[in-house]
Amino acid sequence: MSKIILGILVSGRGSNLQSILDAIHAERLNAKIGVVISDNPEANALKRIAGFDIPGVCIERKNFTAKQDFEKAIADELNIHHVELVVLAGFMRILSPYFIQRCFGKIMNIHPSLLPAFPGLDAQQQALQYGAKVSGCTVHFIDQGIDTGPIILQEAVPVLEEDTVETLAERILHVEHILYPRAIGLYCDGRLCTENRRVRILQEVEGKGDDENETGLD
Ligand code: GRF
Repeated sequence: MSKIILGILVSGRGSNLQSILDAIHAERLNAKIGVVISDNPEANALKRIAGFDIPGVCIERKNFTAKQDFEKAIADELNIHHVELVVLAGFMRILSPYFIQRCFGKIMNIHPSLLPAFPGLDAQQQALQYGAKVSGCTVHFIDQGIDTGPIILQEAVPVLEEDTVETLAERILHVEHILYPRAIGLYCDGRLCTENRRVRILQEVEGKGDDENETGLD
């Protein structure tokens, strides 16, 4: 089966990007990273692809007057690299309907809570403040809301009495690094089927031909 080309959008640390790189390297994920795009020139994520044959591009919001022009620059870059699935990996900007419509059904995100609980910023802090006993992470497709899109995979972790935001975030992050490559792999293997807002995971089909796995953007 041919490799699906990923475009990874980042803003910061890049540990999820690292987990995707590691999964590809270990041949647990049949995908290729076509481009990594950061909106932040200082992002550590960009350093993680140094030494790999992966283009890293910085597109800063401040260089565009209109948000749509900023997003068009990102979309154009994704197209240049023939990206088939957009992976948000700590990308700290809300994408507008313009961008989402262009890539509908082909943008994934990971969020550090069990959605629909605790969407938006500081999800781990929200879980602690609420007094939740369980939290976790969610991989979902992007739709036009904030962290509201169809859920692909979720995994729970306990919230311990002695937890701080940092210890809870670390426990969740450990699970994120397993879950995100797994969800991307399911997409790449053509095993995700979205019906209304329910994502079904199809059984693995042996000997599936390449032409059954058309996933190009646009
Ligand atoms: C992760 O906690 C992820 O769930 C959230 O942003 C954080 C990104 O971390 N969307 P990293 O840059 O991948 O290390």
